[in-house]
Amino acid sequence: MSPAKSPIRLALLGCGTVGTEVVKLLHEQAGDLTARIGAPLELVGIAVRRLGRERGDLPVDPALFTTDALGLVKRDDVDVVIEVVGGIEPARTWITEALRAGKSVVTANKALLAEDGGALHDAAAEGNADLYYEASVAGAIPLLRPLRESLHGDRVTAVTGIVNGTTNFILSSMASTGAGFNEALEEATELGYAEADPTADVEGFDAAAKAAILASLAFHTRVTAADVFREGMTSVTAGDMASAKEMGCTIKLLCIAQRTADSVSVRVHPAMIPLSHPLASVGDAFNAVFVEAEAAGPLMFYGRGAGGRPTASAVLGDIVAASRNKLTGTRAPSESNYAQLAVRPIGESMTRYHISLDVAERPGVLAAVAGVFADHEVSIATVRQSGRADDAKLVIVTHSAPDAALAATVESLSRLDIVRSIASVLRVEGS
Ligand code: NDP
Ligand code: HSE
Repeated sequence: MSPAKSPIRLALLGCGTVGTEVVKLLHEQAGDLTARIGAPLELVGIAVRRLGRERGDLPVDPALFTTDALGLVKRDDVDVVIEVVGGIEPARTWITEALRAGKSVVTANKALLAEDGGALHDAAAEGNADLYYEASVAGAIPLLRPLRESLHGDRVTAVTGIVNGTTNFILSSMASTGAGFNEALEEATELGYAEADPTADVEGFDAAAKAAILASLAFHTRVTAADVFREGMTSVTAGDMASAKEMGCTIKLLCIAQRTADSVSVRVHPAMIPLSHPLASVGDAFNAVFVEAEAAGPLMFYGRGAGGRPTASAVLGDIVAASRNKLTGTRAPSESNYAQLAVRPIGESMTRYHISLDVAERPGVLAAVAGVFADHEVSIATVRQSGRADDAKLVIVTHSAPDAALAATVESLSRLDIVRSIASVLRVEGS
């Protein structure tokens, strides 16, 4: 019989929604984890903000809790640091300290990775340590490892996805019940999907951070949140959703990362997609990501993108990987950023618009509106007119054109006196 291996010692930073489930899974699966890794895992400390907070019946010694996260990270007996606190600071300081000291880090912190992932990777290289972050994008869905490892023999050309559960719940609810944004947000809050302050979700910041992480991995290029064009979904109305339905479409908040020979573009915005699109049927708070690679063709990843237990599943997977590497003295693949592609501004991306206009109903209106599109070299795909007199509406869908030309068209339309108002402008994707 081989001698029992010394335990891999874990420091957990954060014991909230995700951290609590990490603790529970470590306890429930201790035997299997030991067998899979080849050594037991031992939790040596848990850093939190409030020692006195009620945490239910957690299967750990209360003496493990501390408010001194940095002190815990610096302890000599820590092999792997798990960061599930979130935010930029002090998480950046803790993670950098751990990595430079040769301690592997597992984190779910998309905000930090999207802002300063490059510096964290540099610290990992400096300390010869692992930096894993599967849980940072799309919760439980194994997505980053396929991009970081399985697809490294191929060339990824596009990543399109629904990567925010809260907004997908809201938009799905608006589509199925006809509810407005505020009503659907209230429901999401009652069900515990939306946070007390849902700004990061509904304004697209959360999805933009995830888009930056996905684009960096897919295109071997450092992309930060600041490189991502972002538009939230708070302006999507029940009327937009009804209009989408009439066209055989629905509206989703999409993250779209595309690569050309020498550049990438990364954007997050609401978009109309046909009901036949694989992402149209992704409902509730689920996430789905569609990856296109030259040799592999289309690949679809689907599952729970949020919630304590699904996210903890991804964290545990990373803990196992980092622990195995510790035992064998190997490392995870280091950052791949050799391509260094330029990031194209949104204005140069080819997009399509769905524009809904309230117009005066009199002869020549259609010609005047069409003239504005022609002036900006934007080709019209379909035009639909409804209503009469004071209630006339024109719904125009364009062919693909540079986003800057489409935005300029909308601006010129708003200055036409026959256009009473621009009721909505949405990008159209997927056909
Ligand atoms: P919570 O707010 O539920 O938990 C945060 C934890 O961090 C709490 O335990 C809190 O302590 C602790 N904490 C806060 N500040 C400090 C500090 N200064 N020192 C020590 N501990 C501190 O967050 P979540 O669990 O929801 O999220 C954690 C991370 O996981 C974030 O990066 C998030 O983006 C990411 N994530 C979350 C998902 C989810 O569905 N919730 C999904 C995917 C990723 P205390 O308990 O005392 O308040
Ligand atoms: N607020 C995020 C969401 C949590 O709704 O998807 C998961 O990252």
